[in-house]
Amino acid sequence: MSNFLEEDIEKVLFSHEQLEKRIKEMGEKISRDYEGKYPLLIAILRGAIMFIADLSRAITIPINLDFMVCTRYGSKDQPGRVRILKDLELSAQGRHLLIVEDVIDNGDTLFYLSNTLKLRKPASLKICTLFDKPYRRRAPIQADYSGFIIPDRFVVGFGLDYKEKYRNLPFLGTLKPGLCRAPGETAEEQK
Ligand code: IMP
Ligand code: MG
Repeated sequence: MSNFLEEDIEKVLFSHEQLEKRIKEMGEKISRDYEGKYPLLIAILRGAIMFIADLSRAITIPINLDFMVCTRYGSKDQPGRVRILKDLELSAQGRHLLIVEDVIDNGDTLFYLSNTLKLRKPASLKICTLFDKPYRRRAPIQADYSGFIIPDRFVVGFGLDYKEKYRNLPFLGTLKPGLCRAPGETAEEQK
């Protein structure tokens, strides 16, 4: 096991500065779009921690913040099943909901979550993701706000993990070959 996380990184895809700059733009756009609407931002833990911390501070209008934790099972050939481990503490009814996610891959997680939240009769529901991998999408899910389209690779850092490691890297990068799974396998198979 290496002593320094950075030794495991093959390539930095986006530096901390690039991420901060893009998140600031996203925050400005959300502030304009939701002016007067007092949205409820729902960050999906744990992957979205860094993103929500920066995004919420880039938003200049009043918001509420809440968190959900969910877990996913399944394989590349099977539709995933999603389970909520921690639900909202605030009521979603009548609210303008904005789900804040780290990355969308096949879309199962957000498909399940958005269907669950729609049952609570929100005024609106949109999706904001920092990273988007559109190649393996099988659920009809599209981000309303998307920071970066990234290659079909397993990525870590800035909140994203591999087996709960690498979340604290300040940038987004790919792992050296042999250190992670092949594209298409789900994160949960490796946990
Ligand atoms: P989906 O259900 O396939 O869209 O997967 C979304 C979830 O899988 C994300 O919230 C992440 O937790 C995880 N995930 C997908 N791709 C990656 C990746 O490249 N690195 C780390 N986590 C990932
Ligand atoms: Mg996640």
